[in-house]
Order: sequence, then structure tokens, then C-alpha cells
Amino acid sequence: GAPVELDVASIPPGEMRTVEWRGKPVWVLHRTPAQLETLKGLDGELADPNSDRPGYTPAYAKNEYRSRKPEYLVAVGICTHLGCSPTPELAAGPGPGLPADWEGGFFCPCHGSAFDLAGRVYKNKPAPDNLEVPPYQFSADGSRVII
Ligand code: FES
Repeated sequence: GAPVELDVASIPPGEMRTVEWRGKPVWVLHRTPAQLETLKGLDGELADPNSDRPGYTPAYAKNEYRSRKPEYLVAVGICTHLGCSPTPELAAGPGPGLPADWEGGFFCPCHGSAFDLAGRVYKNKPAPDNLEVPPYQFSADGSRVII
């Protein structure tokens, strides 16, 4: 199908948008500096902190932020367990089913898998893999993401 484009320059920090790509929801989250900071301390709580497992993370997203640009997360919003759509729980703090010391991320209501703000799955959850990062790039001026 035709590529999907989204104006990322208009997404305020801390907010996300969803676009449809090949029949799937793709999330684009504009992460704040504080949200990016949370990613650094979570490795010990995650199943695949460096995104080493094949098939979910393109080479350009195998980095601390799982993205081409730190501030923008682009990820397929489908749980890697059985395909439910996780709920954004972007704010830090306690909540039903969330891991202790929740730093913000995404929570799958179907069987309780949790993902951080880079789409990395927490340990000991039903979902085996991090959320998929789709193929994408930025427009030359950086104002749009092209999926
Ligand atoms: Fe998400 Fe099972 S489908 S935890």
C-alpha cells in the first residue's frame, strides 16, 4: 500500500498519535526529556532490553531509545502475545496491573503484559517480545514521519 505520513512536528511533547498502516495501528509518541530519562534505569526489569530478539526491531532502532530520533517512538500498537491493543499508560505512578514503580508505557488489558515508553516488554509477562518497530523514515526537513 501507499506509505502513511504523519506530521510529527505538530505533536506536543508527551502526546501520541495513532495512524493506520497496513491495517495495523501505529503509534507515534513524542517523548519528553523526562520520559526518555526513564528508559535508562529499566533494563533489569525488561525481557529484552537491548532488542536483541530478531524480527521486531530494525537495525536503526537497536539503540537506547528504539528509534531513529530519541524524541519520537514509532511502534506497532499490537501486543506481541495474542494481538490485543495495549492501552497507553503514559503517566508514571501506580495503577491496576502495572508493575511497581511504573514509569509510564503501555499496558495490555488482555493478559497483563506491560511495555515501557520504548515499547520494551517487562519480564515475566505473557508477551515474549518488544512491540514491533515498523519500517519508517523522516522527511528531509524532519517534520513528517513516513511509514
Ligand atoms: Fe496482550 Fe495477551 S494479548 S497480554
